[in-house]
Amino acid sequence: ESIYVGVDLGGTAIKVGICDQEGKLLLTHEGPTEAAKGVEAVIDNIVQYVRDIVEKSPYSWDQLVGVGAGVAGFTNVREGIIIQAPNLGFSDVPMRALLEERLGKPVKIDNDANVAALGEAWSGAGRGLENCVCYTLGTGVGGGVILDGKIYQGSGGMAGEVGHITVVPDLEAIQCGCGKKGCLETVSSATGIIRMAKDAVERGDRTTLSTVEVMNAKEVFDAAKAGDEVALRIVNRAAFYLGKSMAAVAAVLNPEVFIVGGGVAYAGDILFNEVREVFAKFTPEPLQRGVSILPAILGNKAGIVGAAGLHLRS
Ligand code: BGC
Ligand code: NA
Ligand code: ZN
Repeated sequence: ESIYVGVDLGGTAIKVGICDQEGKLLLTHEGPTEAAKGVEAVIDNIVQYVRDIVEKSPYSWDQLVGVGAGVAGFTNVREGIIIQAPNLGFSDVPMRALLEERLGKPVKIDNDANVAALGEAWSGAGRGLENCVCYTLGTGVGGGVILDGKIYQGSGGMAGEVGHITVVPDLEAIQCGCGKKGCLETVSSATGIIRMAKDAVERGDRTTLSTVEVMNAKEVFDAAKAGDEVALRIVNRAAFYLGKSMAAVAAVLNPEVFIVGGGVAYAGDILFNEVREVFAKFTPEPLQRGVSILPAILGNKAGIVGAAGLHLRS
């Protein structure tokens, strides 16, 4: 039996998992990234966690066919290079070559959201579907496009960066981590939601939110569910631009499903109902037909599964 290891390289944690060739996740393990210690230390950690998990499993190193890794940032998939990963503080790292040398196994790398999209399409909410677009709403807003069952890479390997679609009108737009203004990421990421909540508190809006409490987006969603109007306005704003961006994406790609994952997606109906309404409002009727907007089902495991799948599905 063959196994594949998927690696989810995030800003704070590295998650690894073993998958079989059907995309079934057999075992997971995680440890700190230690990005502040530099690239070498992070590579050491990945190598260590990959070796550890195979060792602890009932499988042998010889059964390991390949290792895939999803990285939060702009990646050049063909060359296996991390071009720029702001959350890790890396740029121009030849990650594939470094890992292949250390592991002695074929390695593939890709963007974290591309890999999560592949995971969901392979064995999650998009199972059996050929065309889907996946959003991940977390610290940033990531995206992955699956066309005909495969990740669509674009000319430089950076397609699917839905978080950097310009949605906010100029006058209200604030700067995004990418350097441009008005990106979806500035309003629909957890970071954006928290910022809007803090702004409201500082402005003195009448709300149950307080800056001390507002440390994660969940608190904003909970307040909105409990009837706090300020919190609800923030949630609706995040949902509005998300739905609007989907209308744009639908017009270009005509996917069968939008899958929304990442921590923010746990908000549930309060977010999804509004997103669906806004999508319907801005999308021409023929382009809406048969399109569903669904929560991801693999949760924070989508990245591991999709990364393992890079050897089978790309
Ligand atoms: C980055 C993406 C990444 C996403 C989620 C965005 O800011 O541009 O490459 O997929 O955050 O981590
Ligand atoms: Na992507
Ligand atoms: Zn941006």
